[in-house]
Amino acid sequence: MSSAEKTNGMDTLETLPQHVAIIMDGNGRWAKQKGKPRAFGHKAGVENVRSAIKTCLELGIDCLTVFAFSTENWNRPKKEVGILMDLFLTSLTKEVDELHKNGVRIRFIGDRSAFSKKLQKQINDSEQLTQSNSKLAFNIAANYGGRWDIVNAVRNIYQRIEKGEISVDKFDVELLNSEIALSDLPEPDLFIRTGGEHRISNFLLWQLAYTELYFTDVFWPDFDKANFMEALNSFSTRQRRFGHTGEQIEKKQTTS
Ligand code: IPE
Ligand code: IPE
Ligand code: MG
Repeated sequence: MSSAEKTNGMDTLETLPQHVAIIMDGNGRWAKQKGKPRAFGHKAGVENVRSAIKTCLELGIDCLTVFAFSTENWNRPKKEVGILMDLFLTSLTKEVDELHKNGVRIRFIGDRSAFSKKLQKQINDSEQLTQSNSKLAFNIAANYGGRWDIVNAVRNIYQRIEKGEISVDKFDVELLNSEIALSDLPEPDLFIRTGGEHRISNFLLWQLAYTELYFTDVFWPDFDKANFMEALNSFSTRQRRFGHTGEQIEKKQTTS
């Protein structure tokens, strides 16, 4: 039996993350490997998001955040960017009702003003339709960058200071955090990057401060439930210390 099969039952997972953040990477190389155009990989990649959502719903993971398009992805060939934008619009339009039926709350993070009016409307409509759902908080980072997020938060605070709503000496970690994307949710416990690269690529820079990192060579379109379970299994074996000693953590576990 492979390790993936062994962990396929919930019984071996001691701790489950509340929030999983995924860099869905490797669509282009997946397609290339098959002798197909990159667009073919993107289409398969978008379809595979459904499988990740299903796993989260089945296991009771509360929040899933996926990186769909970075602020740097505008640097790609115009044609590829256009294909990605079309895919976002068609798949969101196609999937939203089913997601709503399953109790999924959809939210977008990033600067949406750069998208077409039509896509912006679909984004707003999807968020509005699903805003009261509570089974899974599904967040899509689109035209998102961790640096943009921090700059945006600082700008918002600066405006509040200028208006006299708060004073500069109130500027602390907690205040900045309150303006950062997804600050109403638990911080990501587990970060997964598919596609073999070992980097953050300007994803949730602030939010990942204490997140457990997991990297796999599997290209995103191939990342299935067994692969997801492997990542969850790895997470469940980790000791999260948050600056404490291992002994302090063990003591806390035995007394609680
Ligand atoms: C991730 O796959 C999707 C986006 C960045 C939109 P890539 O398109 O980066 O695939 P690779 O890394 O080139 O294989
Ligand atoms: C990160 O992947 C962005 C998304 C998955 C949306 P990239 O493929 O753009 O990252 P780099 O360029 O390899 O760092
Ligand atoms: Mg890539």
